[in-house]
Amino acid sequence: MDTEREVDPATRRALFEQVRRHTGIVMGERKWTLLEGRLRRRLRELALPGYRDYLQMLEAKPEEVRDFIDLVTTNETSFFRTPRIWEYFAQQLLPRWFDTHPDMPLRVWSAAASSGEEAYTVAMVCEEFRARHPAFRYRIVGTDIADGILRKASAAHYQGRSIDALRQSRPDLVEKYFRADGDGFSAGPALRANVTFRKHNLHELPREIGAIDVTLLRNVLIYFDAEGQQAVLSNARRAMAPDGLLIVGESESLTRFDMGFEFEQPLIYRNPAGRTRD
Ligand SMILES: C[S@@+](CC[C@H](N)C(=O)[O-])C[C@H]1O[C@@H](n2cnc3c(N)ncnc32)[C@H](O)[C@@H]1O
Repeated sequence: MDTEREVDPATRRALFEQVRRHTGIVMGERKWTLLEGRLRRRLRELALPGYRDYLQMLEAKPEEVRDFIDLVTTNETSFFRTPRIWEYFAQQLLPRWFDTHPDMPLRVWSAAASSGEEAYTVAMVCEEFRARHPAFRYRIVGTDIADGILRKASAAHYQGRSIDALRQSRPDLVEKYFRADGDGFSAGPALRANVTFRKHNLHELPREIGAIDVTLLRNVLIYFDAEGQQAVLSNARRAMAPDGLLIVGESESLTRFDMGFEFEQPLIYRNPAGRTRD
């Protein structure tokens, strides 16, 4: 098999191009070690001698693209990631929404859902709110481009670091909304009732998603170049209801884009126009 040193620049470029073509993720030359590390085991599993053979396989066998996407995406996530956002959600967003839309379900889109921690965090915050306001209703859709991670999100079974951190910070919520299950904890029916997952590439139009009141587009824009970010934001906007909120990750900002989103608070933007609800 090619070693890191032996892989010629054209092959590296072709692999980076495959990543971009299938996910929109832009990897510069300095990401080669990362990409190589992720693909090496797959080559071994497939008993392929080198990356050029793998490139041929990607072209010849479309089903390999699924595994390729699983391998090249970074799925780092956690429950209650960026606590400030969840305080805002519980203390400002939900009370305001319920005051102004007492009869309408809140629709939330976790737009790069990874293994589902973000979507189930929304569900926990909404369930806590609903305990005090029984008429409140909500729906959450989680989407991601990677099949493997979406299977995990749908299974809603968490072990290790992911659930340990939540058990430490919010044992009350784990007690209420999860049950011990084998080597970890599974989300219970209250959390799962209003959450669905489906595959969606953010670079494509969100035809089956909308009209969304809150879009969580967090820690994914960073993987795209400026053009890709703009395209993804414009696509996401098409699924948003008028006055819908867009929430981005801590190292992401919309200030360089003039796309009509209005600054609401750090990391939170409002979409003044938007698609009417069905
Ligand atoms: C770092 S995780 C972020 C998870 C979560 N939003 C959070 O903030 O914790 C990034 C996720 O984006 C997904 N992703 C990458 N490119 C994508 C694309 N073009 N369309 C949809 N999802 C994508 C990856 O599969 C990965 O699960």
